[in-house]
Amino acid sequence: QNDRQPPNTGLDVSTKKIKLGVAIVGSESSWRAANTESIKNAAGQDVGIDLMMQNAEGSQDKQIEIIRRFIQQKVDVIAFTPIVETGWEQVLTETKAAGIPVILTDRKVKVEDDSLWTTFIGSDFVEEGRRAARWLVEHKAADSGVTNVLELQGTAGSAPAIERKQGFEEVLSLSSGFRVLDSEIGDFTYESGQALMSKAISLGKIPQVVFAHNDDMALGAIKAIEKAGLKPGKEIVVLSVDATKLAFQAMQAGKLNMSVECNPLLGPQIIKAVKDLAAGKEIPVNIITAEGIFSQDTAKRDISTRKY
Ligand code: AHR
Repeated sequence: QNDRQPPNTGLDVSTKKIKLGVAIVGSESSWRAANTESIKNAAGQDVGIDLMMQNAEGSQDKQIEIIRRFIQQKVDVIAFTPIVETGWEQVLTETKAAGIPVILTDRKVKVEDDSLWTTFIGSDFVEEGRRAARWLVEHKAADSGVTNVLELQGTAGSAPAIERKQGFEEVLSLSSGFRVLDSEIGDFTYESGQALMSKAISLGKIPQVVFAHNDDMALGAIKAIEKAGLKPGKEIVVLSVDATKLAFQAMQAGKLNMSVECNPLLGPQIIKAVKDLAAGKEIPVNIITAEGIFSQDTAKRDISTRKY
């Protein structure tokens, strides 16, 4: 992995606070709440950081406006979580022209010119999708016939929705015993998980397995399954991503079968990268978080150590 030379920010870190502009995605999930808190806490504990945080409320246009405002306010570094992967060339060209380094947090962008951003700090979403599928193959391969799966995707065009789907389907396609019956687009909220699951049930498309792209959607789907008089975790196997405390509670209750970890506590790494950049140090292009998987077997033990 290559290191990247930071732009010359001309900052005197010994005397001046670093003005950090952060544009978050929104308030769609409990993962996002933990991620936002982690950034606020890490910045708050560092006297050298002057944090300006804005919420894009799920709108790419709004996020672009926020970034443009940060440019006008002459912040030293911008950190943002791109709501979707594409459509960033113009605004990132403007940040580059203004000499402001950009840190991508949690989600990546797809741009031709990768010099438009400095570093990415987050998870390997493709691997998260693969992990969910590997668990499924391992635990359901012995079932006779074809196992029908309903996939509940996160926000259309977002890196986690695209990549989790890719990784999940890549692994499942190697096994003849599984079929993705339907792959429906949601938006990482509890409400969208519940609505999509209710719709599938009312159309008579009842799967043996639900793979939700995050815990909130899985919890919404669980609610819909119960409302229909079925047993989540037993009659319908439910898998998700994030491994938040709420997911552990659902696993303990036997309603969620497993959750792939996606760590939202990125604040300390982001602040370190901001300070390194401002000090003119080289930083890695990709800083990927190490993560695992959690299932019902160990939920009781693991919940006590969960911070979010
Ligand atoms: O980008 C990370 C994803 O976004 C999390 O899995 C999800 O919960 C969130 O809203």
